[in-house]
Amino acid sequence: MNILILGSGGREYSIGRALNQDSEVEKLYFCPGNGATTRLGENINIKDYNDLADFALENKIDLTIVGPEGPLVDGVVDIFKAKDLTIFGPSAAAARLEGSKVYMKNFLAKYNIPTARYIETDHIETAFKFIETLPVPVVVKADGLCAGKGVIIASTHDEAKIAVSEMLSGKSFGDAGHNVIVEEFLDGYELSMFAICDGEDYILLQAAQDHKRILDGDKGPNTGGMGAYAPTPLVDEELYQKVKDRVIRPTLDGMKEEGAPFEGVLFIGIMVVNGEPITLEFNVRFGDPECEILMPLLKTPARELFYKAATKQLDTLNVEFSEQKAVGVVMASKDYPYKSSTPAEIIVDDIHHDDVNSNTHISYAGVSMEDDTLLATGGRVLVCVGLGDTIREARDRAYLLCGQVHFAGKKIRTDIAYQALK
Ligand code: AMP
Ligand code: GLY
Repeated sequence: MNILILGSGGREYSIGRALNQDSEVEKLYFCPGNGATTRLGENINIKDYNDLADFALENKIDLTIVGPEGPLVDGVVDIFKAKDLTIFGPSAAAARLEGSKVYMKNFLAKYNIPTARYIETDHIETAFKFIETLPVPVVVKADGLCAGKGVIIASTHDEAKIAVSEMLSGKSFGDAGHNVIVEEFLDGYELSMFAICDGEDYILLQAAQDHKRILDGDKGPNTGGMGAYAPTPLVDEELYQKVKDRVIRPTLDGMKEEGAPFEGVLFIGIMVVNGEPITLEFNVRFGDPECEILMPLLKTPARELFYKAATKQLDTLNVEFSEQKAVGVVMASKDYPYKSSTPAEIIVDDIHHDDVNSNTHISYAGVSMEDDTLLATGGRVLVCVGLGDTIREARDRAYLLCGQVHFAGKKIRTDIAYQALK
């Protein structure tokens, strides 16, 4: 099977890594990939999705997997399907679950899926009035895609009003902020859950926890995610069942009713409040770094999972997961998430310890290759992944690997998986 992966991050590297180990996969392409994906397959750089679909036809691509939300919201799946290509991901219509927070919140309300109390509005006075009715902190969200930066947790009413004014005036997020959501703050613990969907059926992967803040102890500004682990012991069978019954099933049924059946990865951001799962948001793709720890936990070949999902055959698949646990620690550059840093050479020391060697690996993200030198060029540079029989063992191995990887300004959180180890 020939496979094309769209995207350039650690998420796409980890999918490619899983496929690269699969003898059924012949050719693997990344568009555009990064400086390390060339170790797994071939990088191509075609920006126009029609041209990319032609490339897929000419190169007999059997399956295309879309990593990031941008191409999905822009309709890459529709373009590929119009040319009879097999592609794993939601249509542009279904990708609105992530592309528009207003669409998502209204969908949740329409289908009675538990979510934070909210209003959506483009009217400043309406927003201000609602803010006054909420206890602090107050959550303000821009409608459109803002690369993970469109959510403000305001600690006072005044701060919330300023956030609303700046969004509605277009000052903070341009067009993406012309509609806003104001919602109540939910106090609980956060989970990332991923359902692989084929429009009708789904397979729920193991629940993960991300660590969004830049600093230990969940301090400092939000990032794309500084580390993740799975499966989390914070989820028991009862909670999985609640998520299935109250969130995933009504979402798949609802999207069918809306004329936009959901195919692809449904990423459910959940806040568990007093044992009840409340939907914070949907994304229509894998989380990053969650993908990097979920891929190594799949016993069923990733190829089979994604191909069956893309061809509506999930009902014929019995997915198996490894018994191991996985912890991924993101290594970021010096000034992440504020600004980009000067490119720095990445050096990975040889690991002489067999046990660590066979239970750790790196998923590369913000890297480029220049004259055979691997450079850290992005904000989130790579993820050190450790596997083990327990989360503690996986965590210890991931951090041992972190000690072997060097580049100027490297920055990590030292408390990944702390909620599982309390
Ligand atoms: P979102 O992009 O909607 O996931 O928001 C980014 C992050 O903000 C989430 O991962 C949560 O940590 C936090 N967040 C969003 N909405 C709420 C809420 N209603 N209550 C508490 N935290 C929230
Ligand atoms: N790690 C969270 C995300 O990918 O949005």
